[in-house]
Amino acid sequence: MEAVGKNIKEFKPGDEVYGNKFGAFAEYIVATDKALTLKPASLSFEQAASLPVAALTALQALRDSGKLQPGQKVLINGASGGVGTFAVQIAKAFGAEVTGVCSGRNVELVRSLGADHVIDYTKEDFTKRAERYDLILDNVGNRSPLECRRALNPNGKIVVVGGGGVNDSRWTGPLVGVMKMLALKRFVTQEMTMMLAEMNRKDLTLLEDLIQTGKVKVVIDRTYTFSQFPEAMRYLEEGHARGKVVVTVGDTIEPLAPSANRNAAVASTPSPVLIALELIAIPIVILILPIIVAFVLNRRFKRRHPGTRGFRWGYYFSIMSFIAGLVVGLFLEAGATGVIICGLVYAILAWFFAQRQHWAWIALTILSFNPIAWIINAIYLWKRWPEGSLATPAT
Ligand SMILES: NC(=O)c1ccc[n+]([C@@H]2O[C@H](COP(=O)([O-])OP(=O)(O)OC[C@H]3O[C@@H](n4cnc5c(N)ncnc54)[C@H](OP(=O)(O)O)[C@@H]3O)[C@@H](O)[C@H]2O)c1
Repeated sequence: MEAVGKNIKEFKPGDEVYGNKFGAFAEYIVATDKALTLKPASLSFEQAASLPVAALTALQALRDSGKLQPGQKVLINGASGGVGTFAVQIAKAFGAEVTGVCSGRNVELVRSLGADHVIDYTKEDFTKRAERYDLILDNVGNRSPLECRRALNPNGKIVVVGGGGVNDSRWTGPLVGVMKMLALKRFVTQEMTMMLAEMNRKDLTLLEDLIQTGKVKVVIDRTYTFSQFPEAMRYLEEGHARGKVVVTVGDTIEPLAPSANRNAAVASTPSPVLIALELIAIPIVILILPIIVAFVLNRRFKRRHPGTRGFRWGYYFSIMSFIAGLVVGLFLEAGATGVIICGLVYAILAWFFAQRQHWAWIALTILSFNPIAWIINAIYLWKRWPEGSLATPAT
């Protein structure tokens, strides 16, 4: 601690502290007292630096989101990483039966942390085994919620901690997995949640106690100096750290070393402009284009059927239903055939819907799985039911 504000009573210059703050890759940082806590003398700075994100995440994911109880079976996907190595040990300290998933080279490490069973993901797929778990803690995000569900008890839970790593799509990041989970969780008995760790001093004290009593140890894979930041980040981004990667900020700060690979790393990352364009283009294509098409179809309809009431919402709903059909196909994860079949079913229903066939109207409304569409369509149907289908001339 270099200096404190005038109202700060808890800290004084010279205190050894640690904490959690965005922008902390720096020699000096300004933080509120809530972001920091005193470092116990028994912990090194490297050990302390490992706790506020990874260990807090593991603790809060298991205890608060997962509600882990003694005797329950928990599977930790990504058991050998920063969060995973803490999660294995904390779950054991809570009295759970722990299964860790990692690659072959880390099996011994995960076992040494107390895991009762270890699955080498290069040899075996945990979602295809007969074993069922009460809780899956997913630090990797490489398996869809539907796949994870197969490995859960009917009342089990999935807590998603990870994603956005090397296993994600370059363009969509963890977004698709999140959307799948949000859509799926309504229809299954298992609980599915994502969590974000929160800085919490009480929890840090609990972790310090677990370390002091030997129930949890901090696994540090590599330590880099401040000037080696780019190398440290590159190593982390490879997604195969074994425990924590720590950067030390010594008293003498060395300037960042020029990196020949920095340009290559930048080139392999999608540019922010492209990502922004993608974020603008997707809503335009999915939301606005169908509106335009619906208006065009409606004008064409009115030209062909003079004196008949328009059907703009109907056309719009038909197009959106077709898109929804494709999305349902994707969610069901039955491959291209699944997407085509779902798309076709919805397209056929949408066609009859656009012909104002009441049965298709009702079927498609139900299959929209969308309470807002149910309400709008119910009102629409109630108002326009007497019009009859296009095959029956309106009176
Ligand atoms: N929600 C939150 O608040 C929060 C907080 C912290 C971190 N996170 C996120 O949680 C994730 C994990 O963080 P971390 O710090 O633990 O990452 P990490 O230290 O980089 O760990 C990655 C680990 O994942 C393992 N792994 C890679 N591919 C795997 C696969 N297909 N199956 C199983 N394991 C695999 C690797 O093991 P092998 O080398 O054996 O492959 C490695 O040990 C990241 O996405 C991070 O962004 C979220």
